[in-house]
Amino acid sequence: MPCRTARPVGRAAIDVGKALGARVIAAASTDEKLAACRALGANECIRYSDEDLKTRARELSDGGVDVVFDPVGDAFAEPALRATGVGGRYLVIGFAGGAIPKIPLNQVLLRNRNIVGVDWGAWMLRHGTEQRALLEELLTWASEGRLHPSEPARYPLEDAQRAIDDLLHRRINGKAALIP
Ligand SMILES: NC(=O)c1ccc[n+]([C@@H]2O[C@H](COP(=O)([O-])OP(=O)(O)OC[C@H]3O[C@@H](n4cnc5c(N)ncnc54)[C@H](OP(=O)(O)O)[C@@H]3O)[C@@H](O)[C@H]2O)c1
Repeated sequence: MPCRTARPVGRAAIDVGKALGARVIAAASTDEKLAACRALGANECIRYSDEDLKTRARELSDGGVDVVFDPVGDAFAEPALRATGVGGRYLVIGFAGGAIPKIPLNQVLLRNRNIVGVDWGAWMLRHGTEQRALLEELLTWASEGRLHPSEPARYPLEDAQRAIDDLLHRRINGKAALIP
């Protein structure tokens, strides 16, 4: 299960993936972010700024991964989809990279792959009961130490500009919180 990036959504994916017993392959742009992924329990890491994502993910998964969790999109989306094996699932989470990728559909036909849109906000509005049950389960896991939500980077409210700047320049490994 490759989880792209070491920041909030990617971190949560690694944490939940490990709690579910998955073998997790994390991908990020720097050694520092990959070290954070390993600290969270990622079994393998790919530095996608200079390693070929598809080739390396296939090597590490013996021919193809089961699930891709992709919050970045852009130019890495297609190689990530191509890294999936037979019946693999590619989860569309977000487009932090900026560009919304266009995917050649033959890559979905090949290997009977699946592309799954995951819009948690919209799902939550339609599935209130399931959402509450899911949150309770996650909170229980966190209280049992099975999940490890990270502390946000704290900034005084008057430093909001610096916080936004650090987010934009990818200097934070987690969420940013403004403290009034
Ligand atoms: N589907 C849902 O329900 C759902 C829920 C929450 C969030 N999201 C979406 O998921 C995405 C990620 O959220 P996040 O909070 O984890 O975001 P984030 O912290 O801003 O970005 C995550 C990572 O994206 C990578 N990245 C690649 N290209 C980038 C670029 N051009 N600019 C900035 N970052 C870039 C960076 O990792 P590297 O440096 O390692 O490349 C960064 O650490 C967002 O698009 C968000 O809207 C979706």
